[in-house]
Amino acid sequence: MRQCRLTTLLNRNYLVITVQPALTGKNILLIISGGIAAYKVLEVIRRLRDRDINIRAILTKGGAEFVTPLSVAALTENKVYQDLFSLTDEAEMGHIRLSREADLVLVAPASADILAKMATGQAGDLATTALLATNKPVMIAPAMNVEMWHHRATQANIATLENRGVIRVGPSSGDLACGEVGSGRLAEPAEIIASVLDFLEAQEAPKPLAGKKAVVTSGPTHEPIDPVRYIANRSSGKQGHAIAQALCDAGADVTLVSGPVNLPDPAGVKVVQVETAREMLAAVQSALPADIAICAAAVADWRTAGEAGQKLKKDGAGFIPDLKLSENPDILAIISAAGPKRPSLVIGFAAETENVTEHARAKRTRKGCDWILANDVAPDTGTFGGDQNEICLISGTDEKTDERWPRQSKTGIGRALAMRIIDHFS
Ligand code: CTP
Repeated sequence: MRQCRLTTLLNRNYLVITVQPALTGKNILLIISGGIAAYKVLEVIRRLRDRDINIRAILTKGGAEFVTPLSVAALTENKVYQDLFSLTDEAEMGHIRLSREADLVLVAPASADILAKMATGQAGDLATTALLATNKPVMIAPAMNVEMWHHRATQANIATLENRGVIRVGPSSGDLACGEVGSGRLAEPAEIIASVLDFLEAQEAPKPLAGKKAVVTSGPTHEPIDPVRYIANRSSGKQGHAIAQALCDAGADVTLVSGPVNLPDPAGVKVVQVETAREMLAAVQSALPADIAICAAAVADWRTAGEAGQKLKKDGAGFIPDLKLSENPDILAIISAAGPKRPSLVIGFAAETENVTEHARAKRTRKGCDWILANDVAPDTGTFGGDQNEICLISGTDEKTDERWPRQSKTGIGRALAMRIIDHFS
């Protein structure tokens, strides 16, 4: 999920006044669902129209209880669409075209009802049909009562939507129209506007890796012992996912091969989910040829020599199973080996707990990759599974060429690596 931050909002307010990047001709499909906060969306429409952004609006039956089609039409300077089975509308615009001719679909306010319908893929009216038919990015601004927001059903729906790449703005906390206090308030119009402008400007940003194909591995692998047990490690996948997102934001066509993680898919990235090292290798090989390969996964070095077909049982007499292990394929070494499909830039990680750069340098030579990112994963660093990372980029045998990056967020490391890759290719 890409949450929009208040700092961005403040910066954006500044930019709105001073820079005003050209967003003329951008198109938004605005879906106004039922909620008392719908009136605030009229302000959103006005401010986006000030930036010459075209807005077509769909007003749901519930939405029309709170704002009139006339006010939405007057502010958008466009026809307002309400009915799935309107012959006139279909002849003019067809609901599929309506859903495809936008740079962004914005659902504001997004009621608990429309979120549930989106999560379950319902298409009973024009708004939900357009949401199911669209192949464009979707942003939601939820608004509802605090209990409805915290209900496990709503939270599960939000998680489902975010996992599909839906961008969320808010809700914020405070006094609610129903008289209760808590989360569920529609984000302020300025925050929604900032999020939309951020998104549209990011689409306009230069894409120096456009035309480049990248494959990234991320997360741990799970190696089954029997149908219920497996060998795993503590990798969260945060670093690999952040790298995939940064490369995609820079314009690369990214395939992320991920072991089991508890993270949303990075927006715009093709994600292949795998469990074992052998599945990861097969998925990486089928994503080749690529220009860039980055192995950030903490692949299990060993798997059990033979997975038990049935659950291993305790026999009550203290018998301990004798687990035989065999070595997993080394994906990084295999990808780095010379051959017609070898990516021109292969990057590995070296997770070390002592003599970090020495071990990493030896690993680079042994595996044959071009760069290795050495990181200290000793327990006191909190790197493994944490949000921060400290990297030393090793690209040669001479330690004078080592590049030490300051400790920063894994997102920051992802961006720094994307910048370094852009530099390499230019
Ligand atoms: N790697 C891989 N396939 C494996 C093991 C590791 O692709 N079977 C990759 C990792 O994604 C990482 C690099 O190799 O980019 C180094 O991983 P690391 O765990 O640091 O090293 P190992 O090869 O496992 O060696 P050791 O455990 O001895 O440090």
